[in-house]
Amino acid sequence: MSEFTQNHLSQDQYWMQQAIELARLGQYSTKPNPNVGCVIVKDGQLIGEGYHPKAGQPHAEVFALRQAGEHAKGATAYVTLEPCAHYGRTPPCAEALVKAQVQKVVVACSDPNPLVAGKGVQILQAAGIEVETGLCVETAKTLNLGFLKAMSTGSPYVRLKIASSLDGRTAMASGESKWITGAIARQDVQHWRAISGAVITGIQTVLADDCELNVRELEGVDLTSVVQPKRVVLDRQGQLPLSAKILKNPETVMVMTPFRQELADLGVIQLAPQPLSQLLQTLTQQYQIYDVLVEAGATLSTAFLQQGLVDEMISYVAPTLLGQSARAMFNAEFSTMAEQLRFDLVDVTQLGQDIRLRLLPIQEMI
Ligand SMILES: NC(=O)c1ccc[n+]([C@@H]2O[C@H](COP(=O)([O-])OP(=O)(O)OC[C@H]3O[C@@H](n4cnc5c(N)ncnc54)[C@H](OP(=O)(O)O)[C@@H]3O)[C@@H](O)[C@H]2O)c1
Repeated sequence: MSEFTQNHLSQDQYWMQQAIELARLGQYSTKPNPNVGCVIVKDGQLIGEGYHPKAGQPHAEVFALRQAGEHAKGATAYVTLEPCAHYGRTPPCAEALVKAQVQKVVVACSDPNPLVAGKGVQILQAAGIEVETGLCVETAKTLNLGFLKAMSTGSPYVRLKIASSLDGRTAMASGESKWITGAIARQDVQHWRAISGAVITGIQTVLADDCELNVRELEGVDLTSVVQPKRVVLDRQGQLPLSAKILKNPETVMVMTPFRQELADLGVIQLAPQPLSQLLQTLTQQYQIYDVLVEAGATLSTAFLQQGLVDEMISYVAPTLLGQSARAMFNAEFSTMAEQLRFDLVDVTQLGQDIRLRLLPIQEMI
């Protein structure tokens, strides 16, 4: 199942890693709900496992408890996120664990959702169940960066994707940019789209590329199970042509534009022009969008970066030179080193002939 084996980890860590791997199975289909996995273990044996596959369907604990049946009595449950305590579309999982008489619950990550926040653990403890929290918490958090940020701040987790040449160029002067990176890197972008509630772009990218920005191919994944991201076009002058390919599926398109009746007729959601930080809050608070991928040209990418709105930059670098008349990836005019935007490099992966850098902005510098 993973590179983690019982030899390298404690028993508890091993089982929590299994729960984390299970949670990942829902990464393209659960949004806006969080990814959660659960395993139930008795006498060192796995007796139940589950993950949350889709909003409206049972939570991970319910699937695992169903599988364990009456053997759950006296067992230990490992859950990647604090069991829920509220009646939503499904009954509270904390109560299901109590009813099943498990002996112990190990939780990786507390749930900052105000409807849960500590209440799940309280229900378990009040019933005499031993609870341990924080095991493998850093890995478990990576399952739900958007959900966790949105619940605690009201804004989404923002990833900025940029594909550039070795000389930092993202398009030719004419606007032509297909393709800087190779097929494997472009395939990788599909993953980031598929885990996002929205892909944001600028009108100039739509006009230049006539892009759709949807999820079209994910290796080994049935596309019908993927919750497609909303495609959000920022277009303050109302220039989006009705013939744009992005409007082929208008129900998943949002446009930030002065009101246009013809877009309303297509069923497109329109958002009033607003500052980027406010737009992000609107997406989270009104549309339950917790992970955003920005795939835009230098103008919008620079605006997001300069306003300190980027949580992570995903930079694909291709082994090619496009020359000085090609467009730079970052438009800002800096004159001193003190103005630079610096990042922590957290991952480097080679994808075919390209490399992917994952970078976290150092916020104090912004
Ligand atoms: N290599 C890559 O990763 C990559 C990715 C995407 C695109 N591209 C290329 O980038 C080129 C387009 O880049 P671009 O810089 O011209 O356009 P862009 O960044 O895609 O779009 C810029 C437009 O966004 C709108 N916008 C809305 N709110 C904004 C805000 N708060 N701040 C800034 N802009 C805002 C503005 O139009 P209004 O003022 O009219 O609203 C602005 O002109 C194309 O050639 C495309 O192929 C490359």
